[in-house]
Amino acid sequence: MTVIESPTPLPIDLDARYMLAREIAQQAGERALQMFRNRAALEVEHKGLQDFVSIADREVEGIVRTAVSEAFPADAFLGEESAAGASATLSSERVVWVVDPIDGTSCFLNGLYAWCVSIGILVDGEPLIGVVFDPNSGDLFHAARGRGAFVGETPLSASPACDVREGLVGVGFSHRLKPEAFMPFLVRLLGDGGMFIRNGSGALMLAYVAAGRLIGYYEPHINSWDCLAGIVLVREAGGTVNDFLANGGLLRGNPIIAAGRALYPALTALIDGRAD
Ligand code: IPD
Ligand code: CA
Ligand code: CA
Repeated sequence: MTVIESPTPLPIDLDARYMLAREIAQQAGERALQMFRNRAALEVEHKGLQDFVSIADREVEGIVRTAVSEAFPADAFLGEESAAGASATLSSERVVWVVDPIDGTSCFLNGLYAWCVSIGILVDGEPLIGVVFDPNSGDLFHAARGRGAFVGETPLSASPACDVREGLVGVGFSHRLKPEAFMPFLVRLLGDGGMFIRNGSGALMLAYVAAGRLIGYYEPHINSWDCLAGIVLVREAGGTVNDFLANGGLLRGNPIIAAGRALYPALTALIDGRAD
């Protein structure tokens, strides 16, 4: 009997994808910025409680999706605005681009500056590339596994803080959950002398954790397109992140906990309501 050996999988060109992710985050961000400056003309739809969408989100996702499919037609794509049609087989694809065209839509629509384009790339189920572009500040946060995290050309390091009193903890909450799933954590954080900040863009706040601007970030439920790029950024900046992709996190979302390595155990203890 002839044994047919399974072919060795082709190598993935990470460099080309890393470069493209940075280019299209900036192109898409520039288009989003034009629409932000003319936002009075945008028609806004409700997706759910405190959850909005406009043509800007859809058009910017289209720009990213088209650029990816032209350059890498075999790569899979998971974008917030088209996620409803995502197939459960996505997690077994070799390369998946995980994209939020505008993270911080409420800020965007209300004339606030905390929004960004977020592009993460999973290869064989592992988050390997993360790019977050903030068109208002011009900050391009980017990281690739094993190569460090940067804003522009400047290397990033997560905070060395080991106590919540040493800085600001970013938080996120959406009405996908009941407030009770979140408020006890805030009570404990403040009770321990910590302080929180919520700017409305989980992706941007994770980039700030990588940059050491925030000492940590917690949200009890976040979607993969909000955080996949940020996960790579924080890890490459020397920080720690929970196993977000466990139990179907790619399609269903999960809690996210990210912090400098020294603070991470204390932050998880506060979230769980344990003494550290
Ligand atoms: C939201 C933001 C927010 C986070 C929510 C997300 P959107 O994304 O990242 O900070 O708390 O969980 O849904 O709707 O602005 O793209
Ligand atoms: Ca988002
Ligand atoms: Ca979004």
